[in-house]
Amino acid sequence: CGIVGYVGERDCTDVLLDSLSKLEYRGYDSAGIAVFENGEITVEKAKGELKNLREKVAEHKPMGHCGIGHTRWATHGEPSDINSHPHGNKRVSIVHNGIIENYKDIKNFLIEKGYTFISETDTETVAKLLDYYYEGDPVDAIIKTLKDVRGAYALGIVFKDFPDRIFAVRKDSPLIIGAGDEENFIASDVPAILKYTRNYYLLEENEIATIKSDRVEFCDMHKLPIKKEVQVSNLDMDAAEKGGYEHFMLKEIHEQPNAVKTTITPRIVNGMPDLSECGLTLEALKNYRKLFIVACGTAMHAGMVGKYVIEKLARTEVTVDIASEFRYRDPIITPEDLVIVVSQSGETADTKAALHLAHDKGAKVLSVVNVKGSSIARESDMVLYTHAGPEISVASTKAFSVQMSVMYLLAFEMAYAKGHIDENECKRLTAKLAEIPDIIEKTMECEKKCKYVSSKLITAQSLLYIGRGLDYALSMEGSLKLKEISYIHSESYAAGELKHGTISLVEDGMPVIGVATQTELLEKTVSNIVEVKSRGAFTIAVCKEGTEFSEGVIDEAIEVPAMEDVLMPMLTVIPLQLIAYYTTVLKGLNVDKPRNLAKSVTVE
Ligand code: G6P
Repeated sequence: CGIVGYVGERDCTDVLLDSLSKLEYRGYDSAGIAVFENGEITVEKAKGELKNLREKVAEHKPMGHCGIGHTRWATHGEPSDINSHPHGNKRVSIVHNGIIENYKDIKNFLIEKGYTFISETDTETVAKLLDYYYEGDPVDAIIKTLKDVRGAYALGIVFKDFPDRIFAVRKDSPLIIGAGDEENFIASDVPAILKYTRNYYLLEENEIATIKSDRVEFCDMHKLPIKKEVQVSNLDMDAAEKGGYEHFMLKEIHEQPNAVKTTITPRIVNGMPDLSECGLTLEALKNYRKLFIVACGTAMHAGMVGKYVIEKLARTEVTVDIASEFRYRDPIITPEDLVIVVSQSGETADTKAALHLAHDKGAKVLSVVNVKGSSIARESDMVLYTHAGPEISVASTKAFSVQMSVMYLLAFEMAYAKGHIDENECKRLTAKLAEIPDIIEKTMECEKKCKYVSSKLITAQSLLYIGRGLDYALSMEGSLKLKEISYIHSESYAAGELKHGTISLVEDGMPVIGVATQTELLEKTVSNIVEVKSRGAFTIAVCKEGTEFSEGVIDEAIEVPAMEDVLMPMLTVIPLQLIAYYTTVLKGLNVDKPRNLAKSVTVE
């Protein structure tokens, strides 16, 4: 979910709607605002994307100068008008990002005290608890309420008695306070307010902010005042616009050469990878016993690529985990290990919890993060920022490529540090990586072919992606990309494993995408493609330029430039992204905002 708030001279409703439009990546199941209008709190909410709220507000626009807003990704309670935020009553209204774990207990307590509830949300219980504790001093009510609440939250709060101010507090969910000239803001992240100000305060855990148009005050849970430094954002605002492309996803696919270049160039010094900016010295890299890479979704697939490459070159054991699994499997981590968390947003709740677990076990945490100053970046011992720029489309593309590029730098440097490759070989590999941005550009030439292949997929009920080794990691990413935006079911399978069960799904005309770029494994993967072909599959190969297949094995081949095997994922991913994109466009679906998803998942 995303939260915003405004107090100042401008039309509050306009500012809230505008800021919320920048936060829809955090969820778009519903949206709502609460604005002070003639001393009363006026609330407007609508199910679905923000445009529905805009339409509703066009009929009756709350006119005022102070208010809060919310865009929701549903957790407790289905997406509906009633379950939309803000929640509360005539005296207090709140917007919330996070999950209140003990909301049932709070609800029962309040019902006993005579409160009634209209929504199924956990948030409404916090709003009513604030009301219960409120005796004239909002900060006292907030402190008492938070003592009773267990869970994660970023809260924007307004009290009817104080129509000139917003209150904000957070724990485990992000929140910043935008500092303008005679106007101030709250927001889940900086881009939401960038149009108005670049200055902001980072709200830390359990700090309470009181925000008026001319002043922001902070205090702790004992009401002791806290002094804070203003931060200045250097984010590029234009990067968050579509720039002539029909969708953000297509724009972001095409931004990959530049994103990779910007990420790797400053980290190549005298032809060698250099990650010392964050303390990853050769000495440190040499001594790690084992690596754990932990992430969710696409970031986890970048970790899979990292595992193959690091193990192959640096001969160091790497375990890749889905963050939500890692947390509960009691992993055997020692202080000699390095835990690497990978996250575009730097806010994913499960990934953040994995970081905490690693710290509890005494291991150092390196994060690979795209969003500057995000929670994960701030809490890690070392950070390597990826420089993809803002990624808006829910389906991650450029963030994946830059994450992979960092994995390569790490693998090369670690392989050198551990003495498994010499300086010449390390320089040679690094030079190849440096060529990748231009070769990705060349790979884009397959776009037309991908569009054509996509036209053959739109009627499919289900399809398979198969591959071996690095191609398997990529087929996982290709399959996820297609599923999340085109709603066509697909599965990715290790090509050799197919015959142990899944091949029974293959029937006449079922599309099977064979990712076959790894020279050593090519013959074996082709045999697996032959196995599905002979059972009626419609076969598509993603392969290196010039790969020859026997007659009748492949229905469509999408060729990408030939590179060193180990670096092929940087190119292979392009057609996989384009296939997902065009299949979705041809089906007429919402490419950038697929149903049920959110770009940044800040709940567990
Ligand atoms: C969400 C997004 C995915 C993303 C995953 C991890 O599920 O929809 O595209 O890969 O979160 O996000 P992160 O910001 O941690 O990379």
